[in-house]
Amino acid sequence: MRDLPERLLNDLNDAASSMGGIRIERLFTNEPDRLDQLTVEAAGIALDLSKNQISLKALNLLFELAEALDLKGAISDLLSGVEVNNTEQRPALHSALRMAVAGLPDVPHRKEILEAHALLSNFVEEVLSGTRRGFDGRAFTDVVNIGIGGSHLGPQLACDAMRYERQLGPNAHFLANVDGGEFDRILSRLNPATTLFIVASKSFSTVETRLNATSAREWLLEAADDASAVASHFIAVSANIERAVDFGIEARNVFPMWDWVGGRYSMWSAIGLPIALCYGMDAFDDLLAGAAEMDQHFASADVAKNLPVLLALVSAWHSSFLGAGSYAIVPYDDRLRYLPDYLQQLEMESNGKGVTMEGSAVNFDTAPVTWGGLGTNAQHAFFQLLHQGTRFIPVDFIVALTHPAGRGNHHDLLVANCLAQSEGLLRGRRVDGDDGRSERDLGPHRSTPGNRPSTTISVESLTPATLGSLIALYEHKTYVQSVLWRINAFDQWGVELGKQLADGIVQELEQGRGTNSHDPSTNALIERYLAARD
Ligand code: F6P
Repeated sequence: MRDLPERLLNDLNDAASSMGGIRIERLFTNEPDRLDQLTVEAAGIALDLSKNQISLKALNLLFELAEALDLKGAISDLLSGVEVNNTEQRPALHSALRMAVAGLPDVPHRKEILEAHALLSNFVEEVLSGTRRGFDGRAFTDVVNIGIGGSHLGPQLACDAMRYERQLGPNAHFLANVDGGEFDRILSRLNPATTLFIVASKSFSTVETRLNATSAREWLLEAADDASAVASHFIAVSANIERAVDFGIEARNVFPMWDWVGGRYSMWSAIGLPIALCYGMDAFDDLLAGAAEMDQHFASADVAKNLPVLLALVSAWHSSFLGAGSYAIVPYDDRLRYLPDYLQQLEMESNGKGVTMEGSAVNFDTAPVTWGGLGTNAQHAFFQLLHQGTRFIPVDFIVALTHPAGRGNHHDLLVANCLAQSEGLLRGRRVDGDDGRSERDLGPHRSTPGNRPSTTISVESLTPATLGSLIALYEHKTYVQSVLWRINAFDQWGVELGKQLADGIVQELEQGRGTNSHDPSTNALIERYLAARD
């Protein structure tokens, strides 16, 4: 690991301290080309970073930091297949999945990727043409993706976001949680004879997915009354073909995944099957092509014009130098309602780490809490805190400039609100005196401080391609931040402990007897549960 020059760190800290005394609006005056320098466009995405609490001088210091950390080398390592996931000794080649399909040469694992893509294409064709049918000969009307985390959030986001594309195949549903209530909510509306199941699990060992798949199989067999129905109604996507076959899925019905693709980066592989089944292979390929365009931009653009790099630098500036503990994602587009959930896993599972690649404790803050919600709903929920609360919370606004629904002036009003919120956060408002409305002076209550940072990301229209590049933008942003923080973005050891403890507790629950081997609170909660259940 390279040592960072002391001088650079001092300069960055000095620049951060001086930001406290400068209003962002003032930066627009002091830096006449601020808007130009901080508005960049590529792969159908326009990124406006100018309303953030960063001076161009501080940004230049971050460029120096990127250079000192050999960010360019790190980007090339990621894209060329170096083992960037050092604790699991794996590369992270999600970008290869889309670059190979987009026809780029010299992509690692190109042959395997294209072979798997052809298998997927055949399968989609069989379902869409009605060659593949359910146990009583009817065509599939619904597909249920059984998977969680990375095997759920990306396909769900894309299926919902692409809803104005022509639907060519079955309706897609997503069963993720082990909560039986979710199982009932989804399956009670479906007909087993016309429902196809995809068991999506890279490891094929995730307990939620296995239990949901087992229950779905029972649900199917109650209606089919013939074990052979499983072969026509169940397929799997997994890197562990053996486990999928052990589970009862025929090997020819298992689509490949690889350990060189991380779960939360896997929607571009066969994990994206629900997208392809719903909207067809061409739309899925458009999604991949958009992401590949962002990959190429990421690989080749200079850091000062590189969207993922800029987004990462500014966001890391807020969290690591200015102390932002969280940041909000606010899409002004109902089609992106699952984006905050998706980015929560992407960023928090990737960069929610406290040790460096070498295993020593980090001495700065890493990933902030990622959260958010849809505009305008969010304005009537949490924006009060963003405007007047005591926390420092940068916001990413995401908006499409045109909308296929074009209903009356809905879109004008939606966009106006998006712009108004970022302007309001920036400028604030000072209200002096009570302006005659109250006996008390409401000035302090009605004033908003402003100077609160935000980024606006816009696309001319939200198509499969721009959706692909938007998601790839955030994927690469996540990686760049991990390079800045010198952490591994591609492992997730922190999730193991809870899984292990749940295994033990579920055994106690099954036996109907607590072992009293936990902390006092957990012991008592187990007893409380058993008393209520039994
Ligand atoms: O939450 C841990 C995790 O391993 C995620 O990283 C992953 O996306 C999810 O579980 C599902 O894993 P799998 O696809 O192996 O079932």
